Amino acid sequence: MKVSLEKFIDSKKTNKIISMVTAYDFPAARILNECGVDIVLVGDSLGPVVLGYEQTSQVTMQDMIHHVKAVSRGAGQTFVLADMPFASIDTNESAYDNAKALIDAGADAVKMEGGISIAPMVKFVVDRAIAVCAHIGYMPQTAARPGLVGKTFEEAKQLVEAALALQNAGASMIVLELIPQNLAKEISVLLTIPTIGIGAGVHCNGQVQVFHDMLGLSPRTFKHVKNYGNGNAVFGRAISNYISEVQTNQFPTIANASTMSEDILLQIKDWIHARKQM
Ligand code: KIV
Repeated sequence: MKVSLEKFIDSKKTNKIISMVTAYDFPAARILNECGVDIVLVGDSLGPVVLGYEQTSQVTMQDMIHHVKAVSRGAGQTFVLADMPFASIDTNESAYDNAKALIDAGADAVKMEGGISIAPMVKFVVDRAIAVCAHIGYMPQTAARPGLVGKTFEEAKQLVEAALALQNAGASMIVLELIPQNLAKEISVLLTIPTIGIGAGVHCNGQVQVFHDMLGLSPRTFKHVKNYGNGNAVFGRAISNYISEVQTNQFPTIANASTMSEDILLQIKDWIHARKQM
C-alpha cells in the first residue's frame, strides 16, 4: 500500500533520509520503483530535460497530466509527486482545480513552487485534502527572476519566514533548491516537516536529483549534480554497435526471427507467381 506524504514526517523523526528522483515516463518510473526510491517526482524540469523547451515556464498542465499518467503507471507503490507548472496556482480555485487534475492523473501529492505569497493557495488545496510539497530557494519556473537563494541576511530571513508560512499553511514537505547548506540546516532544524535539498547540502532531511542529470543522459552540468552513470556513453556505444551490426548483416540473426514451414512457403511462392500472371 502507498504511504501518505504525511508519513514522511515520521522519517524526519526517525532520521531516515528521504530519496527522491525525477521521472517523466513509464520506464524511468519502473526503474525507480524497482530500486526502492522513496518518492518519484514528475518535475516540470520535464520541459528542458525531455521536451526540449527552453524554459521550465513553458510546461503546461496538459504536458504534466500526460507525463504523470505515464509515471504513475510505472511507479507501482512508490509515492508520486507532481509539479504544478507555471501559472497553474495563480488563484486558490485554479490551484485546486489543477492540483485535482494531477491527482486524477495518478499523482499522490503536488509540489508548488513559490515563497510566502503562495501560502494561501497551499492552504486552500491542503484544506481540500490534497497533500502539498512546497518549493523555495531557486525557483526554475521564474528563472528570469530567480527565487531567493539566501546568501544575505535579508534573503535568508525571507526564506525562513516563507518556510514557516508554508508549513503553517499545511505543506507536508518542502524542497530547498540551491540554498546555502548552513541555512538549509537551520531551516531543517526549525521545521517539523521534512526538507528535501537540491544543491542545499547534506543537512536536509532528503535529497532530490533529476534522473537525466544524475545518469549522464543530459548535456546539462551543474555543481549540485553528482554523476552516477554515463548514460550518454552507454547508450551511444549500444546504438553505434546496432548501426554497425545492421550495416554488416550481423543483426538480426536467425534467433531474432521466425521461419514458416517449407510447405506453406511453397504455397505462397506459387500464389505470388500466379498473381504476377494476372
Ligand atoms: O522540476 C524539478 O525537477 C524540480 C526539482 C529540481 C526539485 O523541481
